[in-house]
Amino acid sequence: MTKYIVQGGKPLFGEVEISGAKNAAVAIIPAALMVDGTCRIENIPQISDVTRCLKILEQLGAQIRTINRHTVEINCSRIHSTRTSQELARKIRASYYLVGALLGRFGRAEVAMPGGCNFGGTRPIDQHVKGFSSLGAKVVVEGGFIHASTDSGRLKGANIYLDVVSVGATMNIMMAAAMAQGNTVIENAAKEPHIVDLANFLNSMGANVRGAGTDTIKIQGVDRLRGGSYAIIPDQIEAGTYMAAVAAAGGQVLVKNIIPKHMDCITAKLVEMGVEVEEHEDTLLVRRTGNLQRTNVKTMPYPGFPTDMQPQITTVLSLAEGTSLVTEGVWSNRYRYVDELRRLGANIQVDEKTAVVEGVDHLTGAPIQAYDLRAGAAMVIAALAAHGESEISCVQYIERGYEDIVEKLRRLGADIRAVEEPGDSGELEAHIG
Ligand code: EPZ
Repeated sequence: MTKYIVQGGKPLFGEVEISGAKNAAVAIIPAALMVDGTCRIENIPQISDVTRCLKILEQLGAQIRTINRHTVEINCSRIHSTRTSQELARKIRASYYLVGALLGRFGRAEVAMPGGCNFGGTRPIDQHVKGFSSLGAKVVVEGGFIHASTDSGRLKGANIYLDVVSVGATMNIMMAAAMAQGNTVIENAAKEPHIVDLANFLNSMGANVRGAGTDTIKIQGVDRLRGGSYAIIPDQIEAGTYMAAVAAAGGQVLVKNIIPKHMDCITAKLVEMGVEVEEHEDTLLVRRTGNLQRTNVKTMPYPGFPTDMQPQITTVLSLAEGTSLVTEGVWSNRYRYVDELRRLGANIQVDEKTAVVEGVDHLTGAPIQAYDLRAGAAMVIAALAAHGESEISCVQYIERGYEDIVEKLRRLGADIRAVEEPGDSGELEAHIG
């Protein structure tokens, strides 16, 4: 088991390079299953969720060639199975994308149900199922597997209205429809940057997807996707996490390899809090010297403030002057980490979807635990800002989504190190993402 030991209270200075977007990569890699030929994918983040996705593809018969740390070539011309193993697929939430990809290309899929969720509440997939059924698939959940199949071996285009704005359902239906017979329209689609990224990937392989990034996506099914080359967009949430770290710990950092437009929703809130953010072509200079000011934050689908930045911004607000309100508008319960922040001296009360954050003068280091990926990132931010030493356990959650986080922070002058301790991390396998 790995732990992070952090001596906090040191401002951050320097430059940080942002990796490829996790939530784009975990969809684009399964989408490679639809391609009859070789696809070269660049800017892949080196994180454990990606490693798992690639392993699943390999088990299904994909040939994978690692070109360098961030580039792979995937050839799915000889897929021999449309059934995933329980073991790997259950460990990542994004394994649901395998259903859309396999069903789209082969007309059938058997994928182990994605695991339960760690930030509380349920994570239903009814909108994914609704989409597949509208496209003519029969979908049943049996023996821990999602079984999806078609009589004719090919899906048929349809008009699908999503009852909830769902990132996963939008991407999954987009994949399935890319090779369906005829046209599909997805209404009330999610608009996150990774949705546009998946559409661009599919189009670069020969698909015909229009309107991604708006709430109406139109897909003209094609018979075949051929090989090609594609680079994944930078990770909006990773960038936001480093911006939040500078806001909490102070200092000045150049956040590199980002798309500033994707950062607007996060930048706007940090600026309201008194953080200075200077925008350049593909970098942001983030500086915090004075005190942090209170503000209110409500999470919502893009272009709203992202739920995946909620724990990080709440942590920053715990150090702002005055009382801030944070409202979680996407998930039913994503405040489990607040108990850990309280251990460091934060003053936060949670009432269902709202956290009332009374800013404190400083946090004080303590042993804390990462409950999930973004909660874990929040713990790192809190520990960097806190006076004294913190020990963060269960960091395997963090490493699912943040490439080289310890190294990147050390280069910014943070006093953080990873230490190995004997112990069994098996039961702590993450199920969200
Ligand atoms: C994606 O999850 C992300 N995961 C999550 O990021 C992120 O929090 C979430 O989108 C929202 O932005 C990946 O991309 C792998 P949703 P997803 O379907 O697709 C309800 C992280 O930290 N809903 O957009 O599973 C659902 O309950 C992770 O990187 C239904 O009711 O989220 C939720 O309230 C955590 N029925 C809302 O919609 C459905 O069929 C949004 O969920 C699907 C969703």
